Amino acid sequence: MHQLSRRTVLKSFAALSGSVLLPGHSMADASLPLLRAAPSNAQLAPAGYPSTPVWAYATEGKGTVPGPEIRLRAGERVRQRLVNELPQATAVHWHGIRIENSMDGAAPLTQAPVPPGEEFDYDFVAPDAGTYWYHSHNRSTEQVARGLAGPLIVEDLDPWLGESGAATRELVLVLDDWLLDSNAGIVEDRWDDLHAASHGGRMGNTVTVNGAAYPELVVRRGERIRLRIINTATDRIMPLALPDMTARLIALDGHPVTPRDVETLVLGPAQRADVVIDGRKNGEAQAGLLLDPGNGEWVEIAAIIHAGEPVPESNSDVKPLPAWRMLPAPDLSNPQRETLLMEGGAMRGVQEARFGGKKMGFRELASNGMVWAFNGVAHGMEEPMFRSALGRTVHLEMTNRSMFPHAIHLHGHHFTIQSQSGSANSPGDVRDTVLIGTDETVEIAFVADNPGVWMIHCHMLSHQKSGMMGWFEVA
Ligand code: C2O
Ligand code: CU
Repeated sequence: MHQLSRRTVLKSFAALSGSVLLPGHSMADASLPLLRAAPSNAQLAPAGYPSTPVWAYATEGKGTVPGPEIRLRAGERVRQRLVNELPQATAVHWHGIRIENSMDGAAPLTQAPVPPGEEFDYDFVAPDAGTYWYHSHNRSTEQVARGLAGPLIVEDLDPWLGESGAATRELVLVLDDWLLDSNAGIVEDRWDDLHAASHGGRMGNTVTVNGAAYPELVVRRGERIRLRIINTATDRIMPLALPDMTARLIALDGHPVTPRDVETLVLGPAQRADVVIDGRKNGEAQAGLLLDPGNGEWVEIAAIIHAGEPVPESNSDVKPLPAWRMLPAPDLSNPQRETLLMEGGAMRGVQEARFGGKKMGFRELASNGMVWAFNGVAHGMEEPMFRSALGRTVHLEMTNRSMFPHAIHLHGHHFTIQSQSGSANSPGDVRDTVLIGTDETVEIAFVADNPGVWMIHCHMLSHQKSGMMGWFEVA
């Protein structure tokens, strides 16, 4: 990877010039806040069950799931020294941030994974306000499932919270899905389960909200609250509903949308939604956040308890979030046209695909752990899927020819949904991860304005691992 060696050279050059030109100034910035990745434990299952051994991030003290909230304002820097105290190499990806390539954490494409006992300094600007998250991007099927994920909140420079029509308070809700055994331990022998990978992925049996099963969220009557909802599950698509409250969507994947009423909201893995809730449709003291586990039976995953002094209910329309200042609009007059065809999985398996530079049939692919392909290539890390000139608009038509939905994520860029053949996406929405159903085609466009090598993959991490990944280059 020339990227890597160039970075190493730059680093040692910086170190050298630092020591020569600035005597007394130590090259390592001792004040860089630490982000430790280490084994820990967490009370994920309801009271009465043992706590669960997890891998977790910590900025101080013991690691927690979700990891500690990192919060800053748009345009400020995230500065964290990753300290790897895990038994495996790791790297941190800052999901949805239009980041400098060398800080993207997409091991091994943009950096070497950080071995146990070693460190890596992340230092980058977060240009856009919104709800983001950070997670392991090495052996992520296992490492994210073990707990290595946390919220990254970028606040807007323009005031919103507390303004007329806006929310008075916000709550970050990190949703996760865990596969636990009867002692509440994480099931550890199924990281390579090809059966799960060729279906909907490794599904859990316990959904948590902020690391707890069925928590109670206390709000005051009449309070208008901004929920920042993040789906950090490795594979579970989460259909959500707040049937007892008025819910209005104000942002998707961090990017503001014109406020719109939502009855239900579907979040694929890695997707986020900001929702303003207020009012109570039925006057009850309790409301709930519901999830459809996939069988159409809505279950409550968090209770919302109305308690304390009521506040006067806000009748005004919801104030939209301030628009992003920095996102370039795609120029669709003559875009670079690219396609992405998704194939594979159970019931419509890939007959033939290239893997590691070699053409293989279904059986040989499966014996290499591959059951999915992008444009006829499984796990296409040798060659970029496409290259674009810096500043060019890319129009990407993505078609899902498999029997399962996929959550396609592009690194380093946000894109605008141009059209859709299904119902999962609304044209005009700006996202970094898009859900694409069976036989659906979604067209997206973005300005390739961020130089570097960027991953494109399914964020169902079991699918990513078993073939659904590739990359593109902007230069
Ligand atoms: Cu959220 Cu490539 O990842
Ligand atoms: Cu997928």
